[in-house]
Amino acid sequence: MDISEWIEAIKSKTEEELSRINDSQALENLRVKILGKGGELTQLLRGMGSISPADRPRAGQMINAAREEILSLFSEQAKRLSLIERDRALKIETIDVTEPRPRHAFGSAHPVTLVLNEITECFVGLGFEVAEGPEIELDHYNFELLNLPANHPARDAQDTFYIDDHIVLRTHTSPVQARTMLTRKPPIRVICPGRVYRADEADATHSPVFHQMEGLVVDEDVTMADLRGTLDAFVRRLYGSDAATRFRPSFFPFTEPSAEVDITCAACRGSGCRVCKGTGWIEVLGCGMVNPKVLEMCGIDPARYTGFAFGIGLDRIASLRYGIADLRLLFECDARFLRQFR
Ligand code: PHE
Repeated sequence: MDISEWIEAIKSKTEEELSRINDSQALENLRVKILGKGGELTQLLRGMGSISPADRPRAGQMINAAREEILSLFSEQAKRLSLIERDRALKIETIDVTEPRPRHAFGSAHPVTLVLNEITECFVGLGFEVAEGPEIELDHYNFELLNLPANHPARDAQDTFYIDDHIVLRTHTSPVQARTMLTRKPPIRVICPGRVYRADEADATHSPVFHQMEGLVVDEDVTMADLRGTLDAFVRRLYGSDAATRFRPSFFPFTEPSAEVDITCAACRGSGCRVCKGTGWIEVLGCGMVNPKVLEMCGIDPARYTGFAFGIGLDRIASLRYGIADLRLLFECDARFLRQFR
C-alpha cells in the first residue's frame, strides 16, 4: 500500500472512532493509540527508513500534515467533551429543593417542664412574675442572707456542694428571694423556678440535682392567711376544686412561723392509698412568713412590710402527676421514657 493510503486509512479510522467517544478518558486512550510512542502514526514515521531517500521528504511532509490535522481533531473533540462533562457534573450537583427529606425528629417537653409550665401559669394568673437566679451561687445569698450564718446547724440539713469557701451550687431556690428583695421595692410577687443541688446519693427518691419553685410575696399587711389562700388556690387549680392543703408546723431559719404543706393525694382523692402510704396526704412544699431578720438583711423595713415564701418540689409533683416511681428516670434523658410525654 502507498504511504498516502496508509495515512488516509489512519485518518479516517481516527475520525470514525473520535465521533463515537463521549468521555475524556476514552479520548486519551485513543490519543495514545494513534499518536503515542507506539501509536499507529508514530509507527509510520519510524518506518520511514524503508522508504527510498528520494521519497522521504514528501512522505515526511505528508505524515506531519496528517499529524497536525489529527491533533486539531483531538483538540476539537476535547473542547466538546469538556462542555458535555461540565453539563453532566452540573446536572449531578443540582439540588432538588422539592425533594422530600426525612422528617426531623421532634423532641418533647420534659415532665418537669410540663408541671413547671402549668404551675407557672397558675401563679402568673394570681399576679406573680417569674424571677431567676444563678445555679452557681454565693454562700452569702444561699445561706447568710437567709439567716443561716456560718456554723449554723441547719446548714448541715442541706448537704452542700462547695465550689470554694464562698461559692456553692445553690441548695434551694430561696437565694432568689434574697436577690429579689435586694433589687426590688415592695409590693413583690415573684416565683423563681430552677434547678438545685444537694450532695445526695441518687436512688428512687433522691437525686443530687432536682427542681424547686420558690414563691415570695412582700407587701404591707401580708398575713399567713394570704399564704394559705394562695396555696389553696394553687392546689385547686392544679388538682381540682376538692383538693385541699394541710399545714404542719415546721422550721426554716428564713421563715417564722414555718410549715410543711401536704396536699390531697391526687391518686386516691384523700381516702388513702399506696402512693400516700394510706394517709390521704402528700408532702410537696415548705413555707412560712418571711423572717423579719431576712427582710431587714435584704433592705426591707420589717416594721412596715411582711411577707410569705414557699418552696415547691417540682420533681415530686411531676412524679405524682405521671406516676413515675423512680426519680432517676427524670434525669437519665432516655428518649423512650421522654417520648411518652409528647
Ligand atoms: N428552701 C426550702 C427548702 O429547700 C423551702 C422553703 C422555701 C421553705 C421558702 C420556706 C420558704 O427546703
